[in-house]
Amino acid sequence: MVGSHKFGLSLRQKAILGIGFTYAAIVSIFAFSAVLNEQKIVKEEMMNTSMGCTRLFAKMVTEPLLQKDIQAIQMHVRQAGPMAKFSHGRNVSYVIIQDETGHVVASSGEEKIKKYLRGEINLKAFSADSEIIQDVGSVVDVAIPIFANGEKKGVVRLGISTKDMEKKILQSRRWALQFMLGAIVLGAVLGLFVDRKVKGNLSNLIETAARMADGDLNQRVNIKTGDEMEAFGIAFNKMADKLQEAHENLEHKVAERTRQLRESQAQLVHQEKMASLGVLAAGLAHEIGNPLTSISSVVQILQRKVQDKKIIQQLQLLNEHIRRISKTVRELVDFSRPTKSELRPVQINDLIRTALGILKYDKRAKNIKLETHLDHQLPRLTLIEDQILQVFINFILNAFDAMEQGGTLTITTSLENESVCICFQDTGVGIPEDVQKKIFEPFFTTKPVGKGSGLGLSVSYGLIQNFGGTIEVESTVGKGAKFTVSLPVRTEV
Ligand SMILES: Nc1ncnc2c1ncn2[C@@H]1O[C@H](COP(=O)(O)OP(=O)(O)OP(=O)(O)O)[C@@H](O)[C@H]1O
Ligand SMILES: [Mg+2]
Repeated sequence: MVGSHKFGLSLRQKAILGIGFTYAAIVSIFAFSAVLNEQKIVKEEMMNTSMGCTRLFAKMVTEPLLQKDIQAIQMHVRQAGPMAKFSHGRNVSYVIIQDETGHVVASSGEEKIKKYLRGEINLKAFSADSEIIQDVGSVVDVAIPIFANGEKKGVVRLGISTKDMEKKILQSRRWALQFMLGAIVLGAVLGLFVDRKVKGNLSNLIETAARMADGDLNQRVNIKTGDEMEAFGIAFNKMADKLQEAHENLEHKVAERTRQLRESQAQLVHQEKMASLGVLAAGLAHEIGNPLTSISSVVQILQRKVQDKKIIQQLQLLNEHIRRISKTVRELVDFSRPTKSELRPVQINDLIRTALGILKYDKRAKNIKLETHLDHQLPRLTLIEDQILQVFINFILNAFDAMEQGGTLTITTSLENESVCICFQDTGVGIPEDVQKKIFEPFFTTKPVGKGSGLGLSVSYGLIQNFGGTIEVESTVGKGAKFTVSLPVRTEV
């Protein structure tokens, strides 16, 4: 599972927290500076309008002040209350008009009339030689001195409430706070959404990688985000493809090597078998050969000495038999000689004859009719004679085994498409289809223990393949089997 693990916060959680903090800080700074700005603008606007109001009012009362028309001044002062037109709805808290001595000539607060106003604000306002604005907490005090002929004739002062301004500032603060909260909520929702997406895709990636590590290399990720995550997913899948390909290649190579190993092992076992058979044959040939030579000499002496026609006839028959035995012994000696492994031009038909010569005395050949159709135009093939002889012997022995109750073995040689074809067709028990698939495997045999080792065909297959040839099998159960060996005329070993 993706998410928290034993090392604390996950990479994803750290990223989200970092981005969240940065986002909140940016939003706060933005809102804070917006509030400050708004505050400044509102204050400036307030000062400007306050000054404007006071100037307008000062213009209205300058004339009555210079003429000391107190009644007119007082009338203007009364009108300059909260309803005053010139204040543009500004909240005028107080109006004070002072004469050149600092005494109040008229005021919205009647109790101040004729009094000399003390206190820092009042003194500053009165003593100023030009317009002055003073921030006095909840009120802005604007004072405009009135001059005539270069002499200060008095001061017009308006106290304007800052309530409106504070209201505006408060409103802007509230707005900024709402904006901040809104932005943070939106940010959190977006963050959660992104987190879900990232979490989902990351889980997908990690789980896929884990399944691949467990050996299932068919796993792929499916990320459709249209961003770097998708690009990463594509790269991941490509890597998985390569991994799978390499794995399959490796498996293929291992299988191939194993097959080669089994084949060479089978070849070795078979060669050993043939070698011990050879030793046996050599011993046998020696044991039979010597007494036979003696018998043959005696028969020849007797033939010369005896006069009786009947006995001469019998001695001739005996001589015939001795010749046959001698031939068999010669073939056995041939078979038992050390295996020759050099390449040389070989006439396939001769090899077939040799194989048949060796095997015709096998007791299994007794009930079997042998037929050969040999093409005498066959070119010589460059081969290792003994190896091909082994192959032929195995085909013939297999056919004998398949025809225990008798039958016909037909051996045909022909030239087809630049290849010499040797066909061994028997009328034996045949090979079922499911068995056909296995007969070239080393150690596969259907014969009883001691009779077959299951190496013949696998070794033959390897040898024929070495010479660039092929072996094909066709069979119908109960009717027989046909093995066709094809050897290319131009053999490249
Ligand atoms: N002509 C055939 N007719 C029927 N079955 C055959 C024939 N040739 C081969 N087979 C089948 O193929 C199997 C494998 O043959 P292969 O020559 O490899 O081994 P084997 O004859 O059993 O033993 P080995 O040849 O090592 O003594 C045989 O056991 C037999 O079942
Ligand atoms: Mg065999």
